[in-house]
Order: sequence, then C-alpha cells, then structure tokens
Amino acid sequence: MISQDATTTKSRSEKNEAERANGIEVRDVEIRFANGYLGLKKTALSIEPGSFCTLLGPSGSGKTTLLRTIAGLLTPSSGVIMIGAKDVTRLPVQARNIGFVFQNYALFPHMTVAQNIEYPLKLHKWPQADRRRRVHEILELIELPNAGDRAVGELSGGQQQRVAIGRALVYRPALLLLDEPMGALDRRLRQQLGADLREIQQRTGITAVYVTHDQEEAFILSDKVAIMDGGEILQYDTPSELYFRPKSRFVARFLGEANLIDVSSLEQGGDGRTLIRTGRATFSLPLPRAILKQHSSLSIVLRPEDLILLGSDTVDEMQAPAIPVRIEKELFLGSRCIVTVSDNSGATYLVECSKSQIPASGAEVWLTWNPASMVLVDH
Ligand SMILES: Nc1ncnc2c1ncn2[C@@H]1O[C@H](COP(=O)(O)OP(=O)(O)OP(=O)(O)O)[C@@H](O)[C@H]1O
Ligand SMILES: [Mg+2]
Repeated sequence: MISQDATTTKSRSEKNEAERANGIEVRDVEIRFANGYLGLKKTALSIEPGSFCTLLGPSGSGKTTLLRTIAGLLTPSSGVIMIGAKDVTRLPVQARNIGFVFQNYALFPHMTVAQNIEYPLKLHKWPQADRRRRVHEILELIELPNAGDRAVGELSGGQQQRVAIGRALVYRPALLLLDEPMGALDRRLRQQLGADLREIQQRTGITAVYVTHDQEEAFILSDKVAIMDGGEILQYDTPSELYFRPKSRFVARFLGEANLIDVSSLEQGGDGRTLIRTGRATFSLPLPRAILKQHSSLSIVLRPEDLILLGSDTVDEMQAPAIPVRIEKELFLGSRCIVTVSDNSGATYLVECSKSQIPASGAEVWLTWNPASMVLVDH
C-alpha cells in the first residue's frame, strides 16, 4: 500500500495529469481483418475522463481487438474514435500519446529499472535534468523508490510489472491501456498489484482501459465494465448494475451463478399489475405495458442468494411464487451452502443459504423468492 505521506508529497506533481484526463468515444467502429473475419461488429463505447474501464469477456470475444483499435494498432473499416475532443481515427499509434502495458512486460533486460522508465523520455529528447526528476517521481509512484539502479532481472514478476506501468506513465500519456497485464502472476500478487494499479490510476487521474477475463478482478478495479462476446459489447455498466440488472441471458450467466426461468405467459391484470406464469409458478408484478408483447422470449433471472427454501409448515397458501421442489445436493462452503433443488419437471435451481436454513431431509420443500428481486431479460 502507498503511505499517506507519499500521497501528500506527490499530490501536487500528479495533479496536472488529472486535469489532462481525456475521455474516449468509440462510435460505430467496425474491424474487418484481412481474411474477412469481423473482429469487431459496429461498436459504440463512451468512457468518462479519469475513469477505470474494463473490457471483460471470454477468450476470442474481441477485447484485445477493441483495445488495439483504441491504441491505433488496428484501423477501423468504418466508424470514428475520439480521444478527448480529437478525432484520432486516422492518427498513427505514436501520435495518440498512449501508455500501453502488455501481459509480457517487455522491459529491456539489459537496462536498469531507471533506464527502462527513462527510455520514452530519451526518445522524446527530454533534457537530462527533467528526465531524472520525472524518473524519480515515477519510482515513488510505483513504490520502488530505491530500485532505480537495480537490474530488471533481479525484480519479482509483480515488481517488473509495476516498472512496466511506470514506463507507460512516464511520458504523461493521455490514456493508459492495459491488456491482461497480470495474466502471468499468481492470485495473491494479482490482487496486490491490482490494488496498486487502481491507486496509481486514481492518484494520476488518468483514463485507463483494462482487459481481463477475470470477473472478480474487473469488479474490484473498475468504475464501469464492458461485457464483450462475439466482437460485440453486450452491456456497459457499473459492476453492481451488471450483476443486479443484467440485460441479457449471456451477461446474467457470465457474471456468477444465475437461475434462468422461462416465462410462459404474461397477462395484464385489472389492478395495473401483470400476471406472470412460468411452467411452475404464477405471481403478479407491476410491469410496464411494453413488456407484455415480448413474453415469448422473456426469462426471469434469479441469483442463488435471491431464492429461499421453506418447509411446508412455514409456506403460506397464498404465498406467490412458490414451487414444490426436492433437495438434490448440498454443497457446504463454511459460512454458506449452495443447495441444488429440482421441481417435478426436472428443472434444477441453485439456492444459497446458511446450513441452518436447509429444511430437514425428507420434508416437503418449497422454493420461493421476493418478486421484487427478479430481473426480466428478453435476449
Ligand atoms: N489478425 C487477425 N486476423 C484474423 N482474425 C483475428 C486477428 N486477430 C484476432 N482475430 C480473431 O478475432 C477474434 C477476437 O480476438 P481477440 O484477440 O480480440 O480476442 P480476446 O477477447 O482478446 O481473447 P483472449 O481473452 O483470448 O485474449 C478471435 O476470434 C481471433 O481469432
Ligand atoms: Mg486478448
């Protein structure tokens, strides 16, 4: 962790960088590779200045393609990319003023830590005194104040990656782009470096775009996350919106466990509520009228923690929804259990509860939930 003292002494020099933070606008950008493959379908994304945005998705979903497009390493077949107020669509990489960090840190092994960090400044012909001052600032920022003279090969993987982040920031780039920078590190180091990275990003106020396929990492680090699949952004939202308000079955399933229950019919009730029928349950909710037309493709999303198991003695006859179920399997995880239950059509549901909340075996069991915790998705 970075100390309070260090924060105070550095805040003045880093503040200028925060003022220069740029947003990114990706407008209807399409990438078609030479073999004809559509790497990015018409994509739009608006990243706020000074925010930490993560691209999250399965392998091959287009995360690296989108990052490389923002960097200028790939040229869109159509669309526009803006960095701040500037249209950079046709600008080459070196004219975009971007700091890039890759998975294999790509440091120069024959140079010291300080020489590695100084390298971009030499390329830009900064005077020696300014270079020295800036390298010193960066060594402080990445919490390796005394490592300047060390050979990079002597550093641990996590330290080397901090040097790579420092080198990416030294020239005060407009953006910081990171493509799975911690992929080669073990879990504990990833968590530590992730926290350091977030702190560095917040302190400098730079806009960062980060690529990962680790959901937990994305949620911990990011202001907003773009969920990608098949060369498309399916949803761009805050971590809690994505988790609690997924807009599609894919997003619901991709982010943790989700029970999906198909809706078989919707009926407008006289009281402004809508009667919802699934194969096993009927209940009513206040829903916008527009939803009534879509019932053939609607599913209910329920997280395991939203489901409740009740014994027949505690279930109220009028309680809706309530589905009779059988306990199939209990997975004991210490503070909580994941119970698999099935209804008489064979459909299974995952329920999270504490050990004491599981009805006795052999007892009649009902599955219920608070209708307010449901989310409806239509694709
Ligand atoms: N130069 C290229 N020519 C043709 N197809 C490509 C090219 N580069 C990438 N692709 C394809 O585009 C798709 C998206 O690739 P991309 O590297 O963006 O995925 P990713 O989300 O970063 O995956 P990973 O998590 O494995 O890094 C893949 O199907 C890939 O095979
Ligand atoms: Mg990739």
